[in-house]
Amino acid sequence: AVHKHYWVVKQTNFTKLCTTSTILTVNGSFPGPEIHARKGDTVFVTVQNDGPYGITIHWHGVRQPRNPWSDGPEYITQCPIKPGGNFTQEINLSKEEGTVWWHAHSDWSRATVHGAIKVFPANGTSYPFNEPDGDQTIVFSSWYKSNVMDVLNEALAAGSDPNVSDAYTINGEPGDSYNCSKETMYSLLVETGKTYLLRIVNAILNEEMFFAIANHNMTVVGSDGAYVKPFSTDYLFITPGQTMDVLVTANQSASYYYMVLTPFLDTESSYDNTTSTALIKYSGNYTTPSSIPTPTFPNISDSISAQLFVVRLKSLADAAHPINVPTNITRQYFMTVSVNLFACPNSTGCTVDGNNKLAASLNNDSFLLPSTSMLQEYYDSNYNVSGFADQLPDKPPTPFNYTTVVNMSAYTSEGRGVITLNYGDEVEILFQGTNIGATQNHPMHLHGYGFYLVGTGSGDFDNGTDRGRFNLVDPPEVNTIGVPRKGWSAIRFKADNPGVWFLHCHFERHITWGMSTVVIVKNGDTNETSMRPPPSYMPPCS
Ligand code: C2O
Ligand code: CU
Repeated sequence: AVHKHYWVVKQTNFTKLCTTSTILTVNGSFPGPEIHARKGDTVFVTVQNDGPYGITIHWHGVRQPRNPWSDGPEYITQCPIKPGGNFTQEINLSKEEGTVWWHAHSDWSRATVHGAIKVFPANGTSYPFNEPDGDQTIVFSSWYKSNVMDVLNEALAAGSDPNVSDAYTINGEPGDSYNCSKETMYSLLVETGKTYLLRIVNAILNEEMFFAIANHNMTVVGSDGAYVKPFSTDYLFITPGQTMDVLVTANQSASYYYMVLTPFLDTESSYDNTTSTALIKYSGNYTTPSSIPTPTFPNISDSISAQLFVVRLKSLADAAHPINVPTNITRQYFMTVSVNLFACPNSTGCTVDGNNKLAASLNNDSFLLPSTSMLQEYYDSNYNVSGFADQLPDKPPTPFNYTTVVNMSAYTSEGRGVITLNYGDEVEILFQGTNIGATQNHPMHLHGYGFYLVGTGSGDFDNGTDRGRFNLVDPPEVNTIGVPRKGWSAIRFKADNPGVWFLHCHFERHITWGMSTVVIVKNGDTNETSMRPPPSYMPPCS
């Protein structure tokens, strides 16, 4: 089936936390509109930009086979849609099933411009679990009272971590631990004995989160638009960019129960630990409870619980949902992910101490966004990468003790290093966390692909023992993975989607500082293994 949507990006006033703020929305709603489709459907979205600045929209987790032209990251696959302009994107849902999402991909506008994409099973097929009685999207977002672009610009000018958001929200609402927020707290109405599919989207800008429901376990059945082997848990760990599909059965006595959202923070972080709330309310006749049960969940810096959750994710990998993990690796990257410093030439733009500014890097290269579309440059140069980009080295310039010794130089270079792959390459990227400038988790996200998380662990990656423990049988197929602080994550994928695809940390502050690169997958020999040509109506770059 084909679906068509017309979206208007515009400024809209909302009153939250006792303050009226003007935010950018799609069609006036926060979170934005949902897209509903079945696997195999195509969705056309026309985005009319009636906002004050240029914007682009990205379909996070949708592979967009052969069609990077509709992927959306600004200056990677297109120039922004200018105020007054519009752009129609084609979203081809041939590979995903479950929940993915969409968000703005220009500066920090994704703070308020985002929404869920529900992908139901294809006609004639069904869920790999009993049909749920209810289906509800739960979106986590960051709420700033002030304009989020000002927050970004202040952070850039100050050269330090941006302000923490004023609240995390659950379906747009902070909940009753905040002033002026009790009446509007989100509540999910349930009926005793019924089972609900909750489609959880973490659209928060800068923090990984824990989520739990009092007295109710969750059965995780999907993540990032693919099914996983069901497992029961009393908390979720979810990074920005990730989605989790969970089943919850209303099997407790009819009452109210808190759902609670709280950040997982690095111990070094200055971020606060504000908790956001929502309710599960059973239908029926009972007196409103005077005290509502609250869940217990991991401590704010409990990296062990965070990792224990990640390693429970396994692909369903049954006959109807086969997987295909590359085992004949033709391209291998060992990639350090770091927050470091950049020595400013002639001391211009120096914000840390007069000589340096904050930067973030992959293999010690901090990515500079161009001001044109890299995809268009690639296409116009007849697929010649060397005209507009350099190659990112396949390992860090100097090996060092990544996670225990801090005495190595903090400095990074700046540039436009990309990864160029041949069609059909079997690729392994080993992300190695470092403690150069700060030790933080980094939720790494790749456009255009699902990838297999074949291993993750703590410390420096050990090519013997760690590699020997890789899961090549049923690793989860995901699009975003939190590389643990002082640890590593290994991913594999087959380069079978030609195009120009952004690879970046999904913390907005780190993408701003350059923790990104671009994966260019060359065309194969046939039309079916080559990029489609651009539509005639790409947003102009000048
Ligand atoms: Cu959620 Cu570049 O993406
Ligand atoms: Cu990061």
